[in-house]
Amino acid sequence: MQGAKTAVYQSQLRRHCKGLPNHSFLFWVLVPPLVIFYLVYTLELHHIFPELTDIKEIRGALLKVFFLVFKPPLGSAGYDELFKAVRSGGREPFVRHIVAVGDLHGDLPNARKVLQFSGVVDDFGNWAGHADFFVQTGDIIDRGDDTIALFDWMDRLRGQAAASGGTVLSHLGNHEWMNALGDWRYVYPTEIQTFGTVANRQKMISTGRIGRSWASNYTTASRLPLHPSLGPPNTPFPPQTKHLHYQKDDVELDTPYYYDDNEPLSHSALSFVHGGLSPTYEDLTPFPSRINELSDSLLRKLQHRQQPPPHPPNRYSGLPPSATQAEVELYNANGPLWYRGWAMDPDDKVCADVDQVLAKTGTRRMIMGHTPDFKGIVSRCKGKIIIIDTGISHAYGGVLSALSIHYTLTPIGDDVEQRWVEKEVVSALYPERQEVLVVDEREVVGDFRAR
Ligand SMILES: *[C@@H]1O[C@H](CO)[C@@H](O)[C@H](O)[C@H]1NC(C)=O
Repeated sequence: MQGAKTAVYQSQLRRHCKGLPNHSFLFWVLVPPLVIFYLVYTLELHHIFPELTDIKEIRGALLKVFFLVFKPPLGSAGYDELFKAVRSGGREPFVRHIVAVGDLHGDLPNARKVLQFSGVVDDFGNWAGHADFFVQTGDIIDRGDDTIALFDWMDRLRGQAAASGGTVLSHLGNHEWMNALGDWRYVYPTEIQTFGTVANRQKMISTGRIGRSWASNYTTASRLPLHPSLGPPNTPFPPQTKHLHYQKDDVELDTPYYYDDNEPLSHSALSFVHGGLSPTYEDLTPFPSRINELSDSLLRKLQHRQQPPPHPPNRYSGLPPSATQAEVELYNANGPLWYRGWAMDPDDKVCADVDQVLAKTGTRRMIMGHTPDFKGIVSRCKGKIIIIDTGISHAYGGVLSALSIHYTLTPIGDDVEQRWVEKEVVSALYPERQEVLVVDEREVVGDFRAR
């Protein structure tokens, strides 16, 4: 009886819909919403389930039914994504993955292993596309023989990354600078043989292939935004258009002063430098452009002078007389290439000083190499300071390691409210294990678009 009735009903509907495309499609689009409205408003279900009076919830429920019905063709992942996209008004979740590696010191095989297990390169040493940014914090040269191969490989990766939407950020460490200065104390004689002669090596690292790459593809410091609304890497901070009331001689720094409530992502960025950004270093800002201007001008002076005979056996000739005071300070023990305070000073001192430097440089954590810990990556002050030199080269025999940062900005709630969840997961990667160092999560409100 029931079956016969349904058959009659279906044949009537079929006749009614004749000429229209895909009857069952229309049936499923029209009927479930009507049934839901009927249930809610005729049976007054919204008294029992007050959330049903919220129009957003009803829209959500209707969409859910719609997508449940059409789940097979979309697949369940497709359904989840489509449903989320509709709820968030079409705002896209944003994901950025960064891998950073410290001192490599002339060891290509170990460097290959590290970049492979961290997903930067494939089995053949080619860009694998799993990271958006690969960052190396300097000291590729010295204490090993693979100088030429390592710098050539970095440039090959840089090109491959760029071709697939990735970026390689390379830094000069104190050892690259020492070599540019003619301070060859840590150069192995076997490494000089890979260049042929001392003169060939001098040429190659000044005006030759390696030196030219240092001058155009390497910097001394970087600021890497976690989200593209802050601009591309190394966009100077503070922005010139903003007056942040910061003066260099402010003794009592009011940290919250730097944070603008209207720009909750202003400090969602990382700094990278080889040694460290000392709290008393004079040329921190604009960051990192001031440091990199000094670095460019000093490197130019070193690379285009008559190359001094290398020390040893010759006398150490030092910086050229034409170096300015600020350039001298760049290469000082308190400068970004040599500073060790963040690694060596006690917790109470570094954790008291770090916020000031983060505020000035527009960052939330600073990442550096230079001072090795052979057991692993060191995170201090809840991950505001991360030291990634683990003595990767066989010259040290430390552990192989890479730092991984997964950043997500995920829309939540309704489009009008512009709410997002910002999450950053920082982990240390080793060949056989992974250690989560920091998980930071917070809600932010705003219209964040790429600049
Ligand atoms: C900089 O890197 C690119 C790869 O993107 C490479 O082709 C180029 O030769 C490098 N620049 C110099 C001056 O070596």
